[in-house]
Amino acid sequence: MSVMTAADHRIPQDLADSLGTPSAYADGTVLETYRWLRKNQPFGVAKIEGVDPFWVATRHADILEISRQNDLFHSGDRSPTLTTQVMDKRVREMMGGSPHLLRTLVQMDAPDHPKYRALTQGWFMPQNLRSLEERIRKIARAAVDKMADLGGECDFVQQVALHYPLHVIMTILGVPESDEPRMLKLTQELFGAADPELGRQGDATPTKMGADEEPQMDFGVIIDFSNYFRALSEERRKNPTDDLASVIANSQIDGAPISDLEAMSYYIIVAAAGHDTTSSSVGGAMWALAERPKELAKVRADLSLIPGLVDESIRWTTPVKTFMRTATQDTEFAGRQLKQNDWIMLCYASGNRDEAVFEAPDDFRVDRKPNKHLAFGYGAHLCLGQHLAKMEMRILWEEMLPRLKSVELAGTPALSEAVFVNGPKRLPIRFEFA
Ligand code: HEM
Repeated sequence: MSVMTAADHRIPQDLADSLGTPSAYADGTVLETYRWLRKNQPFGVAKIEGVDPFWVATRHADILEISRQNDLFHSGDRSPTLTTQVMDKRVREMMGGSPHLLRTLVQMDAPDHPKYRALTQGWFMPQNLRSLEERIRKIARAAVDKMADLGGECDFVQQVALHYPLHVIMTILGVPESDEPRMLKLTQELFGAADPELGRQGDATPTKMGADEEPQMDFGVIIDFSNYFRALSEERRKNPTDDLASVIANSQIDGAPISDLEAMSYYIIVAAAGHDTTSSSVGGAMWALAERPKELAKVRADLSLIPGLVDESIRWTTPVKTFMRTATQDTEFAGRQLKQNDWIMLCYASGNRDEAVFEAPDDFRVDRKPNKHLAFGYGAHLCLGQHLAKMEMRILWEEMLPRLKSVELAGTPALSEAVFVNGPKRLPIRFEFA
């Protein structure tokens, strides 16, 4: 195959623009863009006003391959999420040249990344999680009981899906229940910064990334998160318990305590990544079932299909839409010539609808097999919380499905507007419990 340059592979402007437009992730436009790109330009270059040009990987195989080669494609050399030039400049000015406001696992590469990941890896392994099963089941049962009390109609996202994973992760992290509303608000502000309904009030809420618009992420949210966790961390240094907050507070790297920035970053990523994504998948599952009574009947008739329902809902929703990588050297990939420092967008939601891997990818099938979705990423950065997320969802459906006789939409559902992490934000349903 001949080696080609970026100039040959420019993505049509309207499609490129949709990749950077939060509302395109809410109204389905981006799925159309992905479909076209997979077929016609699976690894092309997007140029959006006010954003550095970036390659766009839309095929399942390419996303896997880039994620696998984590020496060649780094997470931390540039921003790991799509950002504007204005935002990038502001962050670098604030952070002494670094493109990151935080230093979480997501912004790290070897040799640091494996060391920092090892600090909490054991916590997230199935053996350890088994000891949490009963606690989580209690939380799930309470969530289903609460839903039963709602009398046959509710906004499933606002009244159920948002709170259950939040309560689980905050219990694990050691955050008291009384502080959960604050954590929920901060996470929504962090991920939903561009959504007019979810972003921080009083800030500019851009609908499109552009040079003259305010940057997407709110520095204040990070400061508020850090202030909260700094107090928790100090407390756990003085009085360690068996919770995850104590593990983080007392961790050491190469014999020295981790820095304040790194400890705060660790809390923030676990607190933020740990529930919004899971709630979105739970909401996505309920949305799909409300529109497909046959799938609901199938899984109710055979509860051993629940893990399949869980996987399919994660594939279907793909709450983390994109992460970015940076080429560490000049290289050829997918027949294109990449330069060192080139930025690449991994479109997980596109990989998860790739016709080459999934039969009828737009169908929602609780018995889809195999289901090699990419929603948790792949390789060194494979989601640390994947077993927890799947376990939480399995337990919720085990508690819910035997009681859920029917469900249908009772209004118009809506997805949140965000380029990075999004999912259902409104899901009015009518339901019948046994
Ligand atoms: C359905 C739910 C979830 C989805 C779809 C999801 C998705 C992802 C994805 C795509 C990545 C890869 C990042 C990359 O390649 O750069 C990731 C990483 C990560 N996730 Fe999740 N996640 C979910 C739930 C959770 C939960 C429950 C937790 C924690 C309690 C969590 C914590 C993390 C952490 C700490 C990382 C960084 C890992 C690393 O960079 O080594 N996630 N997640």
